[in-house]
Formats: sequence, C-alpha cells, structure tokens
Amino acid sequence: MTVNMVAVASMATPSVTVAVTNSKALTLSSSSSSSSSSLSLTSCFPSSNSTRRLHPSSCSLTLRCGASSSSPFTSPNSNSTSLIAAALGIDSQPERDSEPLQVMISGAPASGKGTQCELIKHKYGLVHVAAGDLLRAEIATGSDNGKLAKQYMEKGQLVPDHIVVMMVKDRLLKPDAKDNGWLLDGYPRSLSQATALKEFGFQPDIFVLLEVSEDILVERVVGRRLDPVTGKIYHLKYSPPETEEIAARLTQRFDDTEEKVKLRLNTHHQNVEAVLSMYKDITVKINGNVSKEEVFAQIDSALTSLLEQRKAASGSLAA
Ligand code: AP5
Repeated sequence: MTVNMVAVASMATPSVTVAVTNSKALTLSSSSSSSSSSLSLTSCFPSSNSTRRLHPSSCSLTLRCGASSSSPFTSPNSNSTSLIAAALGIDSQPERDSEPLQVMISGAPASGKGTQCELIKHKYGLVHVAAGDLLRAEIATGSDNGKLAKQYMEKGQLVPDHIVVMMVKDRLLKPDAKDNGWLLDGYPRSLSQATALKEFGFQPDIFVLLEVSEDILVERVVGRRLDPVTGKIYHLKYSPPETEEIAARLTQRFDDTEEKVKLRLNTHHQNVEAVLSMYKDITVKINGNVSKEEVFAQIDSALTSLLEQRKAASGSLAA
C-alpha cells in the first residue's frame, strides 16, 4: 500500500459514484445540485472495471487504505469528497488493540441519543442497537407483539419486558455486535431490564448519560423529522433537510407530539434513578444542551480516554 488515506461519506452528499477504472486507480466523485468534486487514489485496489452508484444511506463507513497514525475520523458533516468503503469490501473499523467497545447511551426522550449514535458509529464502527427502533420495526411487521408495543408507546409508557428483553438480547448476540462492539441506545430503561442484561452477561465499558434541560427536550421532539429513505434524523430548526426533495418526504413519529413527550418524560423520571444506580461507576455525564458537534466532542473525548486507558493497561500487562 502506498496511500495513507481516510475519509468518511458525507450524509449531505446526494450521490456518490465509485469507479474502479483499472488495476491501479480508483476515481471517486460526488455531486449535488450546488457542487461536484472528485478524487483519485492510485495503487490501492485490485483489478476491476466497474462503476457503482450508491445511495448516501449506504455511505456510512470509514475507508482506510494503509496504516494511518492520525485520527480516522472526518466529520460526517464535512463537505469533502466522500469515499465508500462498504462497496469496496475494505475494512471500515478503526484499528483495535483490545476487545471491542461496549457502550450504553442514555438520556431523556429527544436528548440526542440517536443523533450521537450516528456520529459514534461513524468513528468507532460500533453496532447501533436502539430499543425504540427494534420496537418500531416490530410494529411494522404487524405482529401481535408489535400491536401490543404500540399501545404502550402511544401512552408514553415502557413496553413490557416480555417483549423488549429478548428482542435486545437477541440483537446483541448477533455476530456483528459481538465482533465490532455495540452501542446500546435507550436500553435498559428499568431496573428489571438492567438486571436481566447483567444476568445475560452484557456489561458495558461506559455508560454515557446525556443531560438536557426539559424545555429544550420538548422543542427537539416537536421539531424532529425522519427521512424514511435514509433513516437520517432531522430537526426543522437545528438540522433542516438539505434539499426540497428530502423535505417533501420527511415523516414525523407518532409519539412526537408535545402531549406525548410529557408522558414519555414522566416515564423517564420514574425509572432513570434505578438504572443509573446500576452503572454509577462507569457513568460519564455529558452536557447535551449544546450543538450536536459539541456534544459529540465530549463523548469522543470520553471514548478516546477509555481506549487509551485500555491500551496502557494491556501494554503494562505485556511488559
Ligand atoms: P425511543 O425511540 O427510544 O425514544 P426516546 O427515548 O423517547 O428517544 P428519542 O428517540 O425520542 O430521542 P433521542 O434521544 O434519540 O433524540 P434524537 O437524536 O432523535 O423510544 C420510544 C418509545 O419506545 C418509548 O417511549 C417506549 O414506549 C418504548 N421503548 C423504548 N425503549 C424501551 C425500553 N428499553 N423498554 C420499554 N419500552 C421502550 O434527537 C431529537 C431531535 O433533536 C432531532 O430532531 C435532532 O435533530 C435534534 N437534536 C439532537 N441533538 C441536538 C443538539 N445537540 N442540538 C440541537 N438539536 C439536536
């Protein structure tokens, strides 16, 4: 390998074309209504003559060619040309010296868990497991469990353990989560769920708690919109859609009303202390009132320190 290069796909990039033109060169170009750019790598990829057009939802991985001593992260909001690792079958994970990270992220409704998970996933390659997303997927299947779950979610209450607990356990046991590490979002939310998780042997390395004031939470909930095509989270004021086309297809969650968020907040307050007591030794409190980039900087710093501590510990063990 002669190229040291790292890039991350920009979610703001409407389309990216990857063209492997011969055995020695790869050309990548991105285009949008306002700009286009391209970039070439040489002596990096095997022989192939193909061109693929990729949707940005598949552009979430870090491309690494050769070893790099610098940070493998470029902001997903960057406007730079995006490279796609997944399409090329190239390793997308940061280099790892030890066991994969196991991270829990917690916070009130709309505190920014999903938004931060996207950023964490991009940098650390962890598998994002969100209890709310698993439940919404179950609802979409039309199953009895899904129908029952929806009744609770509409009231802002916790879905019963007999539905949630095995759902999350099964997801964490999948090979991708075991191999790459996991990022557990919105789970556990009660003492019984935390106890069950412990009994199954799932112990996080760190418990990230997003702290956001209540008036901000309500504003974030009512302004949230989702792109059903890419899964990206938007906010009408803080993260508006990039194009008219995206704006036209955005949807709102059925529980994202001011009335329902108040019920969800009540449920959160009733359960949060019991969960926190289980993880107090590994809890890192994050100020979630600031911009998503500033929130991520705090989380990134905590995860980086954790990895450095592990590296130092494994180094001293080896010595
Ligand atoms: P779930 O889907 O988990 O909802 P939630 O916990 O209420 O959290 P949200 O998804 O609403 O918010 P978030 O923190 O991810 O915020 P986001 O990043 O989207 O659960 C839904 C329901 O499922 C529950 O009520 C319950 O019924 C059930 N359920 C779930 N887990 C369960 C469990 N373990 N047991 C039983 N039942 C369970 O951000 C919100 C908005 O703010 C977005 O528009 C975003 O763009 C914006 N934003 C984010 N960060 C910032 C920032 N820093 N500055 C400005 N805007 C920001």
